[in-house]
Amino acid sequence: MTRLVICVLLCVASSVLGGHEKYEGHELYRVSGLGEQIQALEASLDILSAKSAARSSSGKLEALVRLSPEEKQQWLQYFDERNMAYTKIASNLADIFRAEEAQINSRRAAAKRSGKSISWDTYYRHDEINDYLDDLAAKNPDLVTTINAGLSYEGRQIKYVRISTTRFEVTRKPVIVIDAMIHAREWVTTPVALYVIDQLVNEAKNSALVDEIDWIIIPLINPDGYEYSIEEDRLWRKTRSKAHEGADECPGVDGNRNFDHYFGTREDSTDPCSLIYEGPYAFSEPETRIVQSAVLSNLDRTALYISLHSFGNMFLYSWGNNGTLPSNGLILHLAGVQMAQAIDELALDKADRYIVGNAANVLYYTTGTSRDWTRAVGIPLTYTLELPGYEYRFEVPPEYIEQIVTETWAGIATGARYVINNW
Ligand SMILES: *[C@@H]1O[C@H](CO)[C@@H](O)[C@H](O)[C@H]1NC(C)=O
Repeated sequence: MTRLVICVLLCVASSVLGGHEKYEGHELYRVSGLGEQIQALEASLDILSAKSAARSSSGKLEALVRLSPEEKQQWLQYFDERNMAYTKIASNLADIFRAEEAQINSRRAAAKRSGKSISWDTYYRHDEINDYLDDLAAKNPDLVTTINAGLSYEGRQIKYVRISTTRFEVTRKPVIVIDAMIHAREWVTTPVALYVIDQLVNEAKNSALVDEIDWIIIPLINPDGYEYSIEEDRLWRKTRSKAHEGADECPGVDGNRNFDHYFGTREDSTDPCSLIYEGPYAFSEPETRIVQSAVLSNLDRTALYISLHSFGNMFLYSWGNNGTLPSNGLILHLAGVQMAQAIDELALDKADRYIVGNAANVLYYTTGTSRDWTRAVGIPLTYTLELPGYEYRFEVPPEYIEQIVTETWAGIATGARYVINNW
């Protein structure tokens, strides 16, 4: 009898969860290799993150990769043959995702009960976030405008907020643009964007940053992918579009390869089934076109653009396509270091220190990124900001959200002060 009850509970529990069974038996490995060796994996393996090998001057990278039970032996042999060292980090992703989901569901229930509109101890759904943004604008009509920027491929409303004490009419003010969640599985990016909004709107101590700067913040640029990552596939990264050849089998485009900068110049981004598929043409995705028009809306006075990603503790700047520096490379580095230091000061002791550098030198070559496109169209300071993952990778447990949003805000506020002092 007891056994039956337990089975009923467990069976029901596992059948309602978000598609985690597809990761049954999947393992995570840390693999180290030369930059080219890691880059070569990108098209055929799921690389969850990469960084320079700790305390190494060998120029090696370490990548965190997911191996399915079917492919594991073949890949380990591949690594062996190439002298790439590896260690197992986690043994069953399905269990990890089930535990994550259970924890978030109980937090969300608690948050709902407490009646707060948003808190920093859980993750919210797309519709809840949209309601929050509308509500914020209604409560702060002189400061916040929530824009219905357009629909995602599947028809979800993508919103962003403009924060300005002067209705974007004073053109001597610099503009800062921040976006989050172009990659669906990088959940903690949206809370960071929402926290930036909250700090600017609700904290009097930040009034100088609001008085002197106009802000455009897009907290959830890829809602189709985000919702899909909650309901169907925790590791979904791309959009959910089906407008390209091969979409039946492999829907979706990597939004951060879809910008019009050296688009189409990288062989392994042309396969629709690749995790880094760039799309059929630049700006093929409604989501990236929304970033494009938000950026272009005030281009001549936009001073800083940050695209929030997870994870790796890095500020990455241009050019990702060939590893050379833009004309203001020194300034990019300097401002990046100031932001990184502000974050490191507040970070937990066990956190990795931030790395600031050229994206291609720190990691590997990339094409069609928002960071490079925004720099190329003329924004002086543009970064990919890889938030911390600690030992948890993308699955940042709710109790870490507050730490991450708080420390990251310190970095962004430092970047904003840099902009004010140098504009
Ligand atoms: C590298 O790429 C940038 C654009 O991202 C371009 O302006 C520059 O000329 C390129 N440099 C070389 C050496 O190809």
